[in-house]
Amino acid sequence: MSPSPAHLIRLSDLSDRELEDLLDLAGRLKRRAAAEKLQNRSVGLLFFRGSLRTRTAFESAMHQLGGHTVHLAGASDFWELEAAEGRVMDGRAPEHVKDAAAVLSSYVDALAIRPPMAGHSWASDRRDEAIAAWAKWARVPVINLESAMWHPLQALSDLMTMKEALGDLRGKRLAIVWTHSPTPASPAVVHSLIDAATRAGMDVRLAHPPGYELDEEVARVIGARGRSYRSCDAREEAVEGAQVVYARSWWSLADYGNPTLAASRRARTHGWKVDEDLLARGDGARFMHAMPVRRNMEASDEVLDGPRSLVVEQAANRLHATKAVLLKLIKG
Ligand code: CP
Repeated sequence: MSPSPAHLIRLSDLSDRELEDLLDLAGRLKRRAAAEKLQNRSVGLLFFRGSLRTRTAFESAMHQLGGHTVHLAGASDFWELEAAEGRVMDGRAPEHVKDAAAVLSSYVDALAIRPPMAGHSWASDRRDEAIAAWAKWARVPVINLESAMWHPLQALSDLMTMKEALGDLRGKRLAIVWTHSPTPASPAVVHSLIDAATRAGMDVRLAHPPGYELDEEVARVIGARGRSYRSCDAREEAVEGAQVVYARSWWSLADYGNPTLAASRRARTHGWKVDEDLLARGDGARFMHAMPVRRNMEASDEVLDGPRSLVVEQAANRLHATKAVLLKLIKG
């Protein structure tokens, strides 16, 4: 039996050395100092939820590397897939991930997947069962394009962008500020960002309203690493002395699956926005956001369009980080 392929489901799938090498390769690809190719290779893209950046970055990355993509949208191109094992499949899903993964593995060299999220129970969604099933049954590398828990490619681009702006990240302060939005996301971006930034030696401070605590296990594991990570009650406290302010809106895990309670909690959080006054409390702080961003709700136009904003560079780096990951996983 051939050895299992390497997957990228979360950043901890990479050693510190591998993470450094990936960032180095991404930087060389950006400067056109590396000319590696993936000619005649294919990647299957499966999106069960919408995407602007991730999909376009993947399609462009494979095209520029000489390969190509096959894009399948879960909402229109195929059907619901069962991920649980041993189940009598008498429900909505006519096919199991086990079979889909085996078949697709015979057509393409890697599978990149943004899996579905049921949105009913955090205890269930946090297990990331769909992406885990793809990783278990695929015979080619699987790349997580944002599950409930993790968004490793976003974190790679974030690290790359911060290194370009600040150089050595050790001892630099990153403030992550929760922002108000009627369409919050999962905490995946923030989980992966904290993981990446603490591994890079950054001093990370997190500020959010009550009830928006991160996944307990993630907070415990990062806290137990003994790295510099602290939760603050006030966003001003988190931003004080920071070199980077990173805004993100995520669901309250306390109200997960209960839209009425979630809306009621969110209604009390309108002041949670990054504006010039808040940014000015940092130490020449640069501004970051993974996007999509709601202007003048999560961050003011002045911040987003101002000289301290890195949001476009950050999104642009998704292309180079994606190329580096594809080269590493497909070529080894
Ligand atoms: N940041 C990010 O993943 O963007 P998309 O949802 O547009 O892919």
